[in-house]
Amino acid sequence: MTTAAIEFKSVTKRFPKTDHPAVDRIDLRIHRGETVALIGASGCGKTTSLKMINRLIEPTEGSILVNGQDIRHLPLLSLRRSLGYVIQHVGLFPHMTVAANIAVVPKLLNWDKARITRRVDELLEMVHLPPAEFRDRRPLDLSGGQQQRVGVARALAVDPPILLMDEPFGALDPITRTSLQNEILDIQRKLRKAIVIVTHDMEEAVRLADRIVVMQAGGIVMDASPSDILLKPATPFVASLLGDSRMIKLLQTLKVGDHATAGNCGGAPELPASASLHDALNLFLETGADTIAVRGGGAMAACLRRDQLFSIAGEA
Ligand SMILES: Nc1ncnc2c1ncn2[C@@H]1O[C@H](COP(=O)(O)OP(=O)(O)OP(=O)(O)O)[C@@H](O)[C@H]1O
Ligand SMILES: [Mg+2]
Repeated sequence: MTTAAIEFKSVTKRFPKTDHPAVDRIDLRIHRGETVALIGASGCGKTTSLKMINRLIEPTEGSILVNGQDIRHLPLLSLRRSLGYVIQHVGLFPHMTVAANIAVVPKLLNWDKARITRRVDELLEMVHLPPAEFRDRRPLDLSGGQQQRVGVARALAVDPPILLMDEPFGALDPITRTSLQNEILDIQRKLRKAIVIVTHDMEEAVRLADRIVVMQAGGIVMDASPSDILLKPATPFVASLLGDSRMIKLLQTLKVGDHATAGNCGGAPELPASASLHDALNLFLETGADTIAVRGGGAMAACLRRDQLFSIAGEA
């Protein structure tokens, strides 16, 4: 078994004077190249879990390993060097310029000035904030979405192998949000980081994540691939998170016949080519099958696989 980039071993966090643990005995492994979404209701322990990874909060019990090493035994600077953190509600320093905000960690690492300037401009380009216009502005003179983009740039500054993002796109309009999501997908394809992203948005989770971890009251209720979350929600709560997702509605609008691929899947449950992908989803759920045979889509025999259904929904 390869060493996980991040590993939680039965981690519990109890805050003083509270009745219930904020995080309750969670076990979780996240590998390099993997994007994991943490999703769940407000107060279920998502931010606390992230903050324990970079030791902004110390666990009450259990341990957390980064690249196989217990973070309690790592020098704080080298731990933070390996983690980029996008803070919920952005958390830029208001008295510092955009450039100085992005340069915080490079400065801690004593990069020279020219290298810092180059990197800041490169990152600003990457998040679509023209450097000449934005590098000397103050956070309060930016829109919420622009501030969030600076937050993402700051987290990426020293190209850390691990990226922790706490609702990084919450305040963005749908278009900017999609464009930044694409940016993250692109970064992940190129740089293969371990990414943990907290979100309230199941669609965002499905779009970005290889695995979705659903939390409830401090515990993990499901940790599975997006297709399994979608197709086999472990509890009514997980199902409720999918309830009025646009994705489900999208599936209702797409036809099985347009997405089936040639192949022989005799013996599999059948659907007509004119059925919707939502019908297919229901049939997968009812039968537990991995493949559906598609009837009447032309002369060729055609099949629809369960994972195909998911990737269609993810791309739509
Ligand atoms: N410093 C603290 N002292 C006491 N309780 C805290 C502290 N920080 C968080 N909590 C409690 O721990 C629980 C988990 O909080 P956390 O911030 O992790 O939730 P979250 O899942 O990130 O929620 P949201 O979606 O609203 O951001 C909550 O009940 C919260 O009130
Ligand atoms: Mg939070």
